[in-house]
Amino acid sequence: MTAERKNEEITIGGCSVTDLAREYGTPSFILDEADFKSRAHQWRSSVEHSFGENAGITYYAAKAFISKEIARWVADAGLGLDVCTGGELAVAIAAKFPPARIEMHGNNKSEAEITDAIDYRVGIIVVDSLQEIDRVARIAHIKGVVQKVLIRLTPGVEAHTHHAISTAHEDVKFGFSIASGAAWDAVLAATKHESLQLQGFHAHIGSQIFVTDAFETSATRLIEMLARYKKEFGAELPELDLGGGYGIAYTEKDDPISPEAVLGNLAMIVSDACKRSEISIPKISIEPGRAIVGPSMITVYEVGTTKDVQLDDGSTRWYISVDGGMSDNLRTGLYQAEYSLALANRESSAELRRARIVGKHCETGDIVIRDVQVPSDIVPGDLLATPATGAYGRSMASNYNHMVRPPVICVHNQTARIMIRRETHADLLALEIDEAPRTFPSSEKGRS
Ligand code: LLP
Repeated sequence: MTAERKNEEITIGGCSVTDLAREYGTPSFILDEADFKSRAHQWRSSVEHSFGENAGITYYAAKAFISKEIARWVADAGLGLDVCTGGELAVAIAAKFPPARIEMHGNNKSEAEITDAIDYRVGIIVVDSLQEIDRVARIAHIKGVVQKVLIRLTPGVEAHTHHAISTAHEDVKFGFSIASGAAWDAVLAATKHESLQLQGFHAHIGSQIFVTDAFETSATRLIEMLARYKKEFGAELPELDLGGGYGIAYTEKDDPISPEAVLGNLAMIVSDACKRSEISIPKISIEPGRAIVGPSMITVYEVGTTKDVQLDDGSTRWYISVDGGMSDNLRTGLYQAEYSLALANRESSAELRRARIVGKHCETGDIVIRDVQVPSDIVPGDLLATPATGAYGRSMASNYNHMVRPPVICVHNQTARIMIRRETHADLLALEIDEAPRTFPSSEKGRS
């Protein structure tokens, strides 16, 4: 939001990217605080505006990117937090996130994760299997708590996105299929337990979605389930959570729908479907992750080497190697994701040339951008920025090849500070323990 080109250089939050790179090194994630906060606010107010008195909680999906400070921003902006592991929950607890606005997800939550969630009194747990319904019920019973739950459903819709991030067709590990009857079995299982209070249903159909029809079909099918509940139980369930998945622009080809448009449409669909089914409109929650944090970060790399490689057809491919790669951006390799690129430290009027931007890992698939037009005078030492890396960039970063994970530098009003520091080689080495072999107590028993 605050990025601009000033005196030939790119600045964000009023700070020059060149200065930031000099101070904090590369690669680095740079986070525009104003951008994050305004998107968080925009999504929440769009939910409130579109659904009015039926607006539920706008949960920020922590998996996209989380830190204690982000959790505090999210809490202050009045959003909830969707966590899906004990680790994400630990960040929320460390940030003192209001428990009533936490939603616990996961298709295979451990006993410890469920216990931690219930001990912290999270507002809602989304249950995803029959075993888990029993597990949550048992732990809640032991703790003397009546835990609110949503049942995750698989509405059987095709979300028109990459198959690896599509979650609501039939053959997936998530949720209970509506079509097969598994969803109804889950309702019967959940309503058996006095330590569970069934609040309603949840569905998340996939991620990086641009068309609204799949969201609408999913909402309609969930409402049909609410209607069935009313028919069979003579009472209404108060909540629906329609998940996240709203797409953002990575390149000029992407045309994201605004929160107002997508939620406005959804509100009409929900209201019509409830009228048809003769049920009251439930509270509607959503869980955007990427659409809030994605556009608010860039990654800055420094060019190390360039190389012309002769291809079989006689043409040449220009390889530009940067000082990061698949350890800070797995998305290109995993989902064939596309990114754009900007020369950040200077402006160039040189002719454009096609290039492939690659990292420094020992792997051919270590590609940051497969095919991109860049100024033909790029040289080692230049700084390259890839926009929109805030979601699933740092959060999916790894230490492959013993690379250290980059820092997240927060910029705002001409100030910069480290939100997450760069790892060091000492951090990596610190995990290694010099331990003498121990006679394992259970090994004798195991053999007999
Ligand atoms: N709710 C649930 C239950 C989810 O599983 C997800 C994402 C979200 C909300 C947030 O979705 P978003 O609004 O961020 O699209 N690593 C992949 C994305 C995987 C998404 C997993 N679940 C990527 O880099 O594209």
